[in-house]
Amino acid sequence: MKVLTVVGARPQFIKAAPVRRVLLATHTEVLVHTGQHYDDAMSAAFFRDLEIPEPDVNLEVGSGPHGAQTAEMILRLEPVVEAERPDGVLVYGDTNSTLAAAVVASKAAHAGGRRPWLAHVEAGLRSFNRAMPEERNRVVADHLADLLLAPTPSAMQNLEHEGLAGRAELVGDVMVDAFDWAVPQAADHLPPAARAHPGYLLLTMHRAENVDDPERLARWMQAVRLEMPVIFPLHPRTRRTLGAAATRLPPNVLTIDPVGYLEMVALELNAAAIATDSGGVQKEAYLAGIPCLTLRTETEWVETVAAGWNRVIGDDDSGVRTALDDRSFMDRSRPHPALFGDGHAAEQTVAALERHQGGVPTESVKAASAQVVDAPQAAAR
Ligand code: UD1
Ligand code: UDP
Repeated sequence: MKVLTVVGARPQFIKAAPVRRVLLATHTEVLVHTGQHYDDAMSAAFFRDLEIPEPDVNLEVGSGPHGAQTAEMILRLEPVVEAERPDGVLVYGDTNSTLAAAVVASKAAHAGGRRPWLAHVEAGLRSFNRAMPEERNRVVADHLADLLLAPTPSAMQNLEHEGLAGRAELVGDVMVDAFDWAVPQAADHLPPAARAHPGYLLLTMHRAENVDDPERLARWMQAVRLEMPVIFPLHPRTRRTLGAAATRLPPNVLTIDPVGYLEMVALELNAAAIATDSGGVQKEAYLAGIPCLTLRTETEWVETVAAGWNRVIGDDDSGVRTALDDRSFMDRSRPHPALFGDGHAAEQTVAALERHQGGVPTESVKAASAQVVDAPQAAAR
């Protein structure tokens, strides 16, 4: 089986690595990087850390407004899919790279009435906040995909509500596989700033709604003016706003460059608490058994909140301090069930792809659309 995998942003390199390891045992993978992330610390560092080779193709799209960036990816990816003629196209998550690859794959056709399937890893996640570009990307990707690989039962439920259950499979979360792989190596990778400041709050922030408005970002910085040290690896988007507005940081906040994956896992494992607007970091906080404060108004990872390990802070800046002072929230002895599968999601993912070996008949596009239109639940949400 020949799989064409499309990645482009930091979290996608991490998710694709364990799947690639399993896939290559018996199949072929063409790894395409859209070039959405391109700084060494946002891209190449992950290929080194995760021991995956250079991508086979780099579309070198770079940054830009949503429409231009996505359109450029579509333009550059289509001929690659045509030339490679894969059995299927594999996409991850909810970025513009996901959206572009989903559009290209769902319209590709091979001679002989076959077309490559489109499989979406991390299918079914919903924030129910359509203001987020990621929400729009993931809804489109899910509705276009032939195979929806869901990480959690709640994601399966979301897909069912949208009439997509017939194409969905629960495989677990590939980020658990990645995390389990990293943990034994992480101890040697704790950044010096963390060694020098034990008992730190690990902070990450990059969502447009938090970091593009300098005033909003400055308010978050005041919210983390605390007695404890805060270690803050800066996403380039966040760095851009802080730099442009010359925002003054509280003295307890230590910014560092974005770190590699093994360093990040080490930072997570050794943190007193984690505050983040990242999807992946919320989940890793749970895997590491560290209380997490989500700096958003909602989360896709609802099971971490229900389990008591994650608190959605919303717009209430004082919520950061309140959560950190809440002994019962900070108590790490609470139950810690395996919410995201057993760490073998990559195997389950590849097994699901194998069931679609050879592509799908072009006819199945019609069948899939009919299923969505017929679904009585589709209007309910
Ligand atoms: C993207 C994803 C987001 C994901 C995040 C992971 C979309 C719409 N957003 O957000 O879902 O959570 O990646 O990190 O796809 N930049 C650099 N160097 C880089 C990359 C970006 O300087 O290597 C700067 C540029 O100024 C760029 C800005 O960061 O304009 C934003 O980058 P972009 O890829 O558009 O979105 P992210 O915020 O990274
Ligand atoms: N990450 C990293 N270095 C950093 C920040 C994050 O390796 O400096 C990793 C983190 O461990 C997680 C992933 O990047 O696996 C999350 O990516 P990000 O927060 O950029 O995006 P999101 O998950 O919100 O889409």
